[in-house]
Amino acid sequence: MGGKNRSRRSFLNYLLGGGVTAWVGSIIYPVIRYLVPPKIAESTVSSIKIGKLDDIPLDSGQIFKFGRKPGILIRTPEGELKAFHAICTHLDCIVQYRPDMERIWCACHNGVYDLQGRNVSGPPPTPLDPFDVRIKNDEVFISRRS
Ligand code: FES
Repeated sequence: MGGKNRSRRSFLNYLLGGGVTAWVGSIIYPVIRYLVPPKIAESTVSSIKIGKLDDIPLDSGQIFKFGRKPGILIRTPEGELKAFHAICTHLDCIVQYRPDMERIWCACHNGVYDLQGRNVSGPPPTPLDPFDVRIKNDEVFISRRS
């Protein structure tokens, strides 16, 4: 009789232990998956199509996505197209075009770049990385600078 009770108790302890282990695992696993992001290979995008040249207004800037990173396409008041990585070289904020200044501006710490991407005032230590811009059949394409 005592052996049968012990056997039943061990079985119940075994079930309870397994349930607790599964419960803890169901909580810890999603937390670990959240904290450790999946490995995604660096984008292999080499060129993207932005759209029709006629749809890009003069004296404007637009943010686009190049792989996993943002870029900025600027059409100057004279109609020239310029594109850069849109990540400020100071502390990685996203820059924007300021038509009132005709400059690329970073709102985080008032960093300023000219339309060649050169850092001209504020804390940014280096110029923005440029992209190549091509127009083919009235479509605008942006590619990595080789
Ligand atoms: S992050 Fe752009 S100026 Fe500081």
